[in-house]
Amino acid sequence: MIEFKNIRKSFDEKVVLDDVSHVMETGKCNLIIGTSGSGKTVLQKCLVGLFEPDSGEILYDGISFTEMDDDGRKALRQQIGMLFQGSALFDSMTVEQNVMFPLDMFAKMNSSEKLKRVNEVLDRVNLEGANKKFPAEISGGMKKRVGIARAIVLNPKYLFCDEPNSGLDPQTSMVIDKLILEITKEFNMTTVINTHDMNSVMEIGENILYMFEGHKEWTGNNEEIIFSKNEKLNQFIFASKFLQDAKDMRMLEAKGIIADDRNMEDMLNNGEEIK
Ligand SMILES: Nc1ncnc2c1ncn2[C@@H]1O[C@H](COP(=O)(O)OP(=O)(O)OP(=O)(O)O)[C@@H](O)[C@H]1O
Ligand SMILES: [Mg+2]
Repeated sequence: MIEFKNIRKSFDEKVVLDDVSHVMETGKCNLIIGTSGSGKTVLQKCLVGLFEPDSGEILYDGISFTEMDDDGRKALRQQIGMLFQGSALFDSMTVEQNVMFPLDMFAKMNSSEKLKRVNEVLDRVNLEGANKKFPAEISGGMKKRVGIARAIVLNPKYLFCDEPNSGLDPQTSMVIDKLILEITKEFNMTTVINTHDMNSVMEIGENILYMFEGHKEWTGNNEEIIFSKNEKLNQFIFASKFLQDAKDMRMLEAKGIIADDRNMEDMLNNGEEIK
């Protein structure tokens, strides 16, 4: 569990995070959503210590990260896995070398133990046999999976993913989302995902924090989002007429109204508003 309270962060005069508080839950995919520039990446960077918030407190499983000394933070960082936007693989290294990198840096293992662990995580992300390939030789979806393998190779308790689906087609995005959800459950990690992908919100949004211009505008899960009356959220999530209609249908369905075709037709014909 990662809890943060009253986080503020400004760059020069510009307030980027304005008193944001929330709890990221263990064993769940915790999503930070919002339009470009709403502060998602800055918030994630504050949580892992890449930016220092101007004020506020961050607690990892009840222990204050804010008050931790350098050694404490160093130890904690080894329990954090990160999947960067664009995967950030080392182009001159093979898949195997990329995934082994954190083990070379931090793990006290001999070469054969390291290779065994690399192969375990490559198997886990369905990339068995891709060891000797270079990033330039694999697809975008495979690169993300290598990024995930590298992020989980040290068995982290906390996993941070910044836009894991950027640049992927909807089907491949779904595969990546499901993989992240599965490993979150399997290893009981606290996973934090920045996204503005509508499919991700609906598929894996177990705990969603919606940011608007640097503040927390709404929180809930992927069921509650359908029924939310928050206007800013609805404009963001259900931006197109098509998605707005889909939301209305889903609401009717949930209310049991849609089961009756005649009733549905009457409502549509009468232009009745769906509440
Ligand atoms: N290092 C920095 N120095 C100054 N301003 C910054 C810095 N990093 C981010 N910002 C500003 O903070 C605001 C929020 O940026 P952030 O990158 O968190 O947005 P985001 O929600 O992640 O957007 P996107 O969806 O495009 O990734 C933006 O106005 C940005 O210009
Ligand atoms: Mg961002």
